[in-house]
Amino acid sequence: MGNKKLVFSGVQPTGNLHLGNYLGALKNFVSLQKEMECIYCVVDLHAITTFQKPSELLENVLETTASFLATGINPNKSIIFNQSSVSGHAELAWILNCVSRIGWLNRMTQFKDKAGSDKEKASVGLYIYPNLMAADILLYKATHVPVGADQKQHLELSRDIAQKFNNDFNCQDFFPLPEPMIPRKISRIMSLRDGTKKMSKSEESSYSRINLKDTADEISKKIKKAKSDSDPIPDNIKSLEKKPEALNLLTIYSELTQNNLEKVISELSGKEYSVLKTKLSDVLISEITPIGKEIKKLLDNKSHLKNILRKGSEKANIIAEENLKNIREKVGLI
Ligand code: TYM
Repeated sequence: MGNKKLVFSGVQPTGNLHLGNYLGALKNFVSLQKEMECIYCVVDLHAITTFQKPSELLENVLETTASFLATGINPNKSIIFNQSSVSGHAELAWILNCVSRIGWLNRMTQFKDKAGSDKEKASVGLYIYPNLMAADILLYKATHVPVGADQKQHLELSRDIAQKFNNDFNCQDFFPLPEPMIPRKISRIMSLRDGTKKMSKSEESSYSRINLKDTADEISKKIKKAKSDSDPIPDNIKSLEKKPEALNLLTIYSELTQNNLEKVISELSGKEYSVLKTKLSDVLISEITPIGKEIKKLLDNKSHLKNILRKGSEKANIIAEENLKNIREKVGLI
């Protein structure tokens, strides 16, 4: 694939995808297909860094694949596959485990958040997870990586690992340093219950997030219950600094209506949040429910989804094997 532009990104199959995944990542995945070659991966090896019931994992891999397709990723344009079906991810991850430094991993905030207070009990996989993420990207020599803001630190680590590999093995420019592509305006969608936490699959209350499979009824109930503010909508962004839930709702609305935040605020200023909530429910329902319906329809034909993954894996494997051959050579492995 030489030095041409190549996009790679991954999504964990650990449950329902939500509005954060959609606005932070998937929407970007779809638009990038127009400009560049893209590889999108259902990262099942990442998912098992915390225990997954095997039958649920299998279902979640298919559901994430269906979500890729339903949002508009086209398997005839982009490669869609699941990580464990290309063994090069695990092989390169091992090599990169030997390049990456313990001190670098110790700085990863996501490990600290996910491992919680009892780090001794976290899996070793969870700790070295960012090295596997670097392997995902570098296995294809990807140049661009669309992700939400929560993945920024992991991407910086991937760049450090690529740079160290190139230095250690005396092969400048062998691995390109991958560029993060983080949406400028809406890089972190926050929980509907607590505007200081990101919207996440793992938060217990389902009222904290809009899932791509939610019905119109569920969306409007969740938005009605979403935390906002008892004061009317102000006329400037600064007044929202200490009101993260209100700011989050306005930001989501501005993104979905393709209007800038200042304009949205000036139009709604002085109104109660119930006015914003009605408008927001309407735009969410019209953008999200067709995706949810399509996901459900695609899940009725699992062999079709498996077929797409199989074909994608074959294509991914060709690129991976070619690159691995050179990587093994650089390291001195026969
Ligand atoms: P994951 O599965 O947690 O999330 C998938 C994508 O969704 C984005 N995202 C969000 N964006 C905005 N607001 C939110 N609340 C929000 N929640 C999630 C994430 O930033 C991500 O882009 N480690 C990655 C998966 C991965 C990967 C890779 C990504 C594995 N290998 C290689 C890029 C390249 C993860 O756990 O994403």
